[in-house]
Amino acid sequence: MSASFSVQSSTGEYSVEVEAGGFARWASEFGGNAVIADEFFQYAWPPGAAPPVFVEAVETNKALEASPALIEQIRRGGANRSTELVAVGGGIIQDLSAFIASVYMRGLKWTYVPTTVLAMVDSCIGGKSSINVGPYKNLVGTFHPPQRVLADPEFVRTLPLDQRASGLIEAVKICFCKGAESFAKHMSFEPSVEMGSEALEGLILNSLESKRWFIEVDEFDKNERLLLNFGHTFGHAMEGASHFAIAHGIGVGLGIECAIAMQERAGVDYGGASQVGQLRQHLRTMVGSDPTVRSVLPTLDLDDVLDRIGSDKKHGTDFYTFILIAADGRVELTKLPRTQQTLAAAKAAVEQVIESYR
Ligand SMILES: NC(=O)c1ccc[n+]([C@@H]2O[C@H](COP(=O)([O-])OP(=O)(O)OC[C@H]3O[C@@H](n4cnc5c(N)ncnc54)[C@H](O)[C@@H]3O)[C@@H](O)[C@H]2O)c1
Repeated sequence: MSASFSVQSSTGEYSVEVEAGGFARWASEFGGNAVIADEFFQYAWPPGAAPPVFVEAVETNKALEASPALIEQIRRGGANRSTELVAVGGGIIQDLSAFIASVYMRGLKWTYVPTTVLAMVDSCIGGKSSINVGPYKNLVGTFHPPQRVLADPEFVRTLPLDQRASGLIEAVKICFCKGAESFAKHMSFEPSVEMGSEALEGLILNSLESKRWFIEVDEFDKNERLLLNFGHTFGHAMEGASHFAIAHGIGVGLGIECAIAMQERAGVDYGGASQVGQLRQHLRTMVGSDPTVRSVLPTLDLDDVLDRIGSDKKHGTDFYTFILIAADGRVELTKLPRTQQTLAAAKAAVEQVIESYR
């Protein structure tokens, strides 16, 4: 099966194709383009396909400081204004390539082939590039959507299980934020780290079509798209306090659990929104599939987690911003008073979730 749809953006429309096993055919069409690929694929690069510049997918290579050497390499390869760039890899290769495509000779057209679940279900559309500067992650970036996104779920076969779980958590987050129908469809694919390419194909399409709604109504992250930060205030804090032993997607899953716990402790009753219980149960399975979680959570310094929650960039001078679930199951951006009481409520929610994984 293969399926495609298009996304509207301020720079025009771009297409998304999802096809299990599609990469071999797409790769045969890369000739004449400049290709940047994850070094992981060095020994499995399709014979006859244009030779890429291989880059190791590590955060230090997704840095402003690392870009000039890669830009020079692409220039030596003969890239000019009409050259198209092709990027093959996960979010690191995507961010780096999108950034280079947006600045090289004031902008190249580019095609993106995502190879991780996270990139296939989420980051491949939206047009953002985020680049690290010194110790600051994702400090600078541009909006420069690709012309084409080509997603082949077969790539997932070689992906470690914790990374599959991380990506699937981002997918369920997007679908839950979109609404009950999208969430129910997501769950109908019986998402699991062991799922096969065919079910994954449907799941990827549902997640991307759900995300499309957010990026088309709010391309530049001013209103609706902000909801996709669901789970991130708590999640980033736990991820950071664990010194990144907790993977990003797993942190988001834990963060959503904290957001639910915080609401319940404040008296919100989800009895009329059964999807909240279903989401929580599913997240426990996904988060629990990563064996590091149970050993890392009890070692977290709670004061550090709280400091990080309190310094999230979404907060205002007199309020804290949390993305929470209302009693009817809708995800909403909530401003709470900037008081010790609010922080204490957040702390109690974190403690409850940590305790539940003992
Ligand atoms: N631009 C955006 O909209 C956006 C959104 C979310 C995240 N991000 C960024 O994405 C990055 C994380 O990306 P990611 O989680 O997709 O992975 P990644 O690019 O960080 O890769 C993770 C690891 O998986 C390996 N890998 C990639 N594909 C593989 C495959 N098919 N089989 C086996 N190994 C494979 C890589 O070599 C690497 O070791 C972060 O830097 C994050 O900031 C960007």
